[in-house]
Amino acid sequence: MRKKIINIILDNNREFISGEEISKQLGISRSAVWKHIKSLKEEGYNIESINKKGYRLKEKPKDLLSSQNIAHELNTKFLGKSIFHFETIDSTNTYAKKIASEEVDGTVVISEEQTLGRGRLGRIWDSKAYEGIWMSIILKPNILPYRTPFLTIIAGASIANALNNLGVSVGIKWPNDIILNGKKLCGILTELSAEIERVNYIVLGIGMNVKNLNFPNEIENIATSLCKEGYDLSRVDIVREILCELEKNYLEFIKNENREKIIDTYKKYSVVLGKNIFVIKNDDRELVECVDINIDGNLIVKKSNGAIKEVMSGEVSV
Ligand code: BTN
Repeated sequence: MRKKIINIILDNNREFISGEEISKQLGISRSAVWKHIKSLKEEGYNIESINKKGYRLKEKPKDLLSSQNIAHELNTKFLGKSIFHFETIDSTNTYAKKIASEEVDGTVVISEEQTLGRGRLGRIWDSKAYEGIWMSIILKPNILPYRTPFLTIIAGASIANALNNLGVSVGIKWPNDIILNGKKLCGILTELSAEIERVNYIVLGIGMNVKNLNFPNEIENIATSLCKEGYDLSRVDIVREILCELEKNYLEFIKNENREKIIDTYKKYSVVLGKNIFVIKNDDRELVECVDINIDGNLIVKKSNGAIKEVMSGEVSV
């Protein structure tokens, strides 16, 4: 019901709408409307109430990642139709894995803060309150487990497209770091539960720095945020855009088996293609030339002795 009320107020474009009108539209009493408005205010919505005039949104709601805000004008078929929003949580990926078997395909878990945010290769992911997008998406594709790594490629291409649509020109550092002005803006942590022939679920964790101005010392020189690079974007708009792009590309892959189009998009954003890069595995660093990214999303590199090799996992530095 609160979702419906906030939609009516959001749709009313900051004009007053009377409590009577809301109660009529929703078939509930005026005192029930009042109670819902009170709790929405407590949640951070700046709703003005004036006697005889009614209610209006005084200013854009604090950029809360609440399900109401995200769901409003979200044009997806299934991604984000169910959203779990937290003020704080240990890790959205950990929570998503706990609920994945019970929840529907496309469920989103999002939190304003993570106290134990996890990155790739067992690293910590710094996730302060209201500074970024810390979200996990539960996917249940009917594909064989060996095909799931491609979902990380899809996620990278979709996030790059989403930011590009919002006027931010980003690159992708293989396998899945989103780069802005040479620094890491966003990372993806994909976790899989599968049997030999069947995927139970995939949790696609996305961490994007949006409002952060300071980073822990260890990553200060390699991490950035949209705000630090001069972009003032709403986190809610970014989430919606990511969900739309991701759904489009995901369905293209699942329904039409079309990987070419996605790889082409991915390659367009690549900051490693055609460059000399270091491939890092454990303590080894090897200087190679990246000559291609193949249809599986793996790097094709030329070694210093001229040999061509396929790199399927690990990290690279440019
Ligand atoms: C990386 O190391 O580049 C991946 C970082 C992924 C961080 C996100 S934030 C939301 C989700 N929950 C987590 O604990 N991690 C992912």
